[in-house]
Amino acid sequence: WPAFAGDIDAILALKRERDAVILAHNYQTPEIFHCVADIVGDSLALAREAMKVDAGTIVLAGVHFMAETAKLLNPAKRVLIPDLGAGCSLAASITAADVRLLRQRYPGVPIVTYVNTSAAVKAESDICCTSGNAKKIVESLGVPKVIMLPDEYLAQNIAAETGVEIVTWAGHCEVHERFTAQDIRQLRAGHPGIVVLAHPECPPEVVGESDFTGSTAAMIDYVGLKRPARVVLVTECSMSDNVAVQHPGTEFIRPCNLCPHMKQITLPKIRHALETMQHEVTIDPAVAEPARRAVERMLEV
Ligand code: 13P
Ligand code: SF4
Repeated sequence: WPAFAGDIDAILALKRERDAVILAHNYQTPEIFHCVADIVGDSLALAREAMKVDAGTIVLAGVHFMAETAKLLNPAKRVLIPDLGAGCSLAASITAADVRLLRQRYPGVPIVTYVNTSAAVKAESDICCTSGNAKKIVESLGVPKVIMLPDEYLAQNIAAETGVEIVTWAGHCEVHERFTAQDIRQLRAGHPGIVVLAHPECPPEVVGESDFTGSTAAMIDYVGLKRPARVVLVTECSMSDNVAVQHPGTEFIRPCNLCPHMKQITLPKIRHALETMQHEVTIDPAVAEPARRAVERMLEV
């Protein structure tokens, strides 16, 4: 990618100078994902990898809750996010006060919080989950009823898989809520033999029309293992771009829903973050301690 060469070279040099590593989510654009990231993955992998970082600085090429999770799990490191405006419609849908009210309303019912939330919301929760482990986390609690926040569709999809009664919250991912069952039926009609992989943040009717549901990493693994001739990844646009480069034998059909938050992160902003060591993510210690406990409980399951 010659257009990006100047920024890429500068970022690679700055990483060495600043003792920094770049953790990038699977939704980052290919020039970030393939050319400057040290570690790529889904939310769960990024959390686990953040814990192991030895370098002094972590640049999180992803959204704000991911940078907060990295800071919670490796608090001695400086964690930078290249744009503080990289939010998430799920994280924005719920506050810590909302969680306190739910706890009062459903006494004794465990609260499972998706990692796509602020540290303040995590701090009010019993345990976190990601799309990669939500089923396992809910089952690990061994109870007939849980509260799962804030993604209504993820909660409904997990309730259907586990048989556990789940109290939901009306939060949605603005990327995945736009896919419909009709979209999937049209894809199948237009592309015979297509394998449909959907993210569990999609509405249950979309999951019901799909061949496989899993986190972004699980979708990538599926393509690597099964090598479908023709596939659609029902998720954010950059996933297919990133994975297609590695699988030239597979035809990727690409209905494209873009995450405007993920797309706040660009090569020039990563370069600027490393030049200026901004924007540093900090968490109030009173919030960090209980939030860390909820994330660590998840990682122990
Ligand atoms: P995962 O990569 O954990 O599946 O999450 C998808 C997502 O929407 C993150 O914002
Ligand atoms: Fe949030 Fe959805 Fe964007 Fe992920 S893709 S950051 S869940 S809005």
